This record gives sequence, C-alpha cells and structure tokens, in this order.
Amino acid sequence: MKTHVILAAAGSGVRFGAGINKVFAFLAGIPVLKRSIFLFEHIVDSMTIVCRPADLEEARKIVNASNVSFPIQIVIGGDTRQESVLKGLRSLYASPEDIVLVHDAARCITPPDVIMRVIDSCKLYGSGVPAVAAVNTMKYSSDGQTVSGTADRSCLFEVQTPQGFRFDDLLNANLVVEKEQCKVTDDASVLEHAGKTVHLVMGSRRNMKITEKEDMQIAGALLSGGVSSFRVGSGYDVHRLTENRELILCGVQIPYHLGLLGHSDADVALHALMDAILGAASMGDIGRHFPDTDNRYEGISSMLLLKETNKLIRSAGYLFVNADITIIAQKPKLAPYIPLMVRNICRILSCGEDQINIKATTTEKLGFEGREEGISAHAVAFLEKMD
Ligand code: CTP
Ligand code: MG
Repeated sequence: MKTHVILAAAGSGVRFGAGINKVFAFLAGIPVLKRSIFLFEHIVDSMTIVCRPADLEEARKIVNASNVSFPIQIVIGGDTRQESVLKGLRSLYASPEDIVLVHDAARCITPPDVIMRVIDSCKLYGSGVPAVAAVNTMKYSSDGQTVSGTADRSCLFEVQTPQGFRFDDLLNANLVVEKEQCKVTDDASVLEHAGKTVHLVMGSRRNMKITEKEDMQIAGALLSGGVSSFRVGSGYDVHRLTENRELILCGVQIPYHLGLLGHSDADVALHALMDAILGAASMGDIGRHFPDTDNRYEGISSMLLLKETNKLIRSAGYLFVNADITIIAQKPKLAPYIPLMVRNICRILSCGEDQINIKATTTEKLGFEGREEGISAHAVAFLEKMD
C-alpha cells in the first residue's frame, strides 16, 4: 500500500491580492509551494501538484529545485478546487487501497504530527481529516445583518488539510459529485455526499492556510516563535596558492597560473560555506565530517562534499535558507565567474539563485591574500529547523 499526495495549487489567490498566485509568495525566504512540497519529505511515495497553465513554468522551476525523496508530477487544475483535485486524481497511478492525501499548497507550515495522524487514521479507518474544535461562538445569519440563531459550539469543528482517504473511495465519490454538479468546499464533503464515514483526527492551530496578505506575517511569526527555528552559522577558510594545482572556487575551474593547495580540491569558498552550514546546524565543521586523514577525501571535489553536507543537515531536519560568501583574492579577477559559481551551489543545495550571494574582494595588496600567497573565504549561512 502506497501513500500519494495531491497538492492543490491551482487557485489564483484573489483574497491574497498580490497579483500572483499566493503559493509563489516567499515566506521567510522560501516560496510557499516549496515549503508545502518539503512537508511530505520521507512521508509519501509520490506527489501530484495541480496548478494553473499560467503557473506551470514557475511550478516546474520550484519542483526542479526541490530535491525530495519522492517523484513529483505536475498537472493542470480546474476552475474550482474540487475540479483541480479530480484532475489530480485522474492523473494518479495508484491501487484502490492506496492512501491519497489532498493538501492545500497554501497550507505550508503544517506540523508533521498532523500529517502522521491523518495517515494512521487512513490505515485504520480508510479516512482521516484533521480538525480543531471551534473556539468562537458561531451564529447563523442569512443576511449578515441580524442573527437568526446560535449553533451548539460543542459539536462544531474546523477542518484542515491534508485530508486522507482510500484512492478508490475518493475517486468514486468525486466522480459522483462531478456528475451531480454538487458544490463542495473540501474533500471530506465529497465522501460525506457518497454516504461514507469520515474520521476526524486532531489538527493543529499552527496548521494555518495562507489566505490574505497578513497571514504571511502570522505564518512567519509561527515559524520563528517558540522553538528557535532559525539558525545562523559562519565559516572561514584559507588555502595556500601554489604552482601545479588547479584553481577551483565554488566548483568553477578558473584559468590561472597558480592553484590552491589542499587535501581535497582546496575549494576554499565551498569549505567556508560548508562550515557555515554545519555551524548553523550545530554540527561541528568539515574537518569532523570529512577528515583530511581519510584517503576517501583525497582530491575529492568539494561539490560532492557540499552535497553530503546538505544531506547531513536535511536528515537533522534543517532547510537551507540563504548564504553570503566573500572570497578574498588579490588575483585573478573573479567577477566573470560568479554567476556560474552561484548556479553550481544552487544545483547542489536545491535552492534559487536569490538564496546565494557571492562576492569577491582584494585586500589592496595587504596581507597574505594581497601578496598572492593564498586565498581566503568567509561565509554566513542561514538555516531553518523544520519541526
Ligand atoms: N485551489 C486549486 N484549484 C482551484 C482553486 C483553489 O487547486 N481552482 C487550491 C489553491 O491553490 C489553494 C487551495 O486550493 O492552495 C485552497 O484554496 P484557497 O485558499 O481558496 O486558494 P485560492 O483559490 O488561490 O485563493 P482565493 O480563493 O482567495 O482566490
Ligand atoms: Mg479559493
């Protein structure tokens, strides 16, 4: 039995009012859609993202920059959320008993325990819908002006996503709703319409949906509040310049008559970056993870070490947010190579180019860098703890 997730991202975010689909808005440096993708890392076997034709290219970019544990397909959605979900279901290659989670891409800070409760409930009962008890008193009003009644709050719940069901139940019920052209606002309603029992599990007040602009501030506060979710680290490294060695900086081989001396490829800039990343995660430094006494690392490309570093922090629950690197070299002129350096790092860290900044400076011929005896690099990295 497999678990699939359909990520509904085909809305237009009218209430958000930014002129772009809100799922592409940046929340603490990372697009909402990318955050939603990462929520399901190591949890599901496949993901189907449903989006508008106009957003296809942007969605593809984010998917390509998201190196996750499951395959992702992107399909075109419909005019209503339910049509979008049905298009996702129709494109799904699943067995009848497989679990399908349907999640709003706009709900990008869902706590993992909510997702796990939904899946456990699906395994036990064939359905799981996260809910929180209503905290406000609910009134009926047909005209929005006067009250016509008061609901019994003790049996009112607000439901959230992901909502999970057996694939065959969800598809069949959706086909009925489509045929009868019923209007529904969530996936549970579709199953209710088909007469199926829908099981509730405990949701979370943190599982908010980005609807209006101010929700970004609330979500940002939730991310940084309580546990210290954001972490900063710094790195510094120096390598000696020598003859008969390549000069490699951020994975780019730079034509120069001198190169950097070291056990690996001596990519001083990536070494500083890795130390900054490991520092932010409180995981020591590269010497601890890739000791120069280990023959495996002799002459190794630091790009491979960066990949390993990223794996290390990802498995410890950290997500890379951004980094700023300064390379200090009197010569050669590095500016022409910086765009390629940025692209190299983005490829390895699965991030956007606006998440990496690289600058180069001379020291006005002062110090060891100025005398061209060596090159040094500083880096600062910012990580987020996904809890
Ligand atoms: N959604 C969808 N297809 C639609 C409408 C909505 O996939 N035709 C998705 C949205 O992208 C969102 C989720 O369903 O992730 C919840 O919908 P909502 O919060 O209403 O988002 P929007 O429809 O984009 O926003 P608005 O209603 O303000 O336009
Ligand atoms: Mg909507």
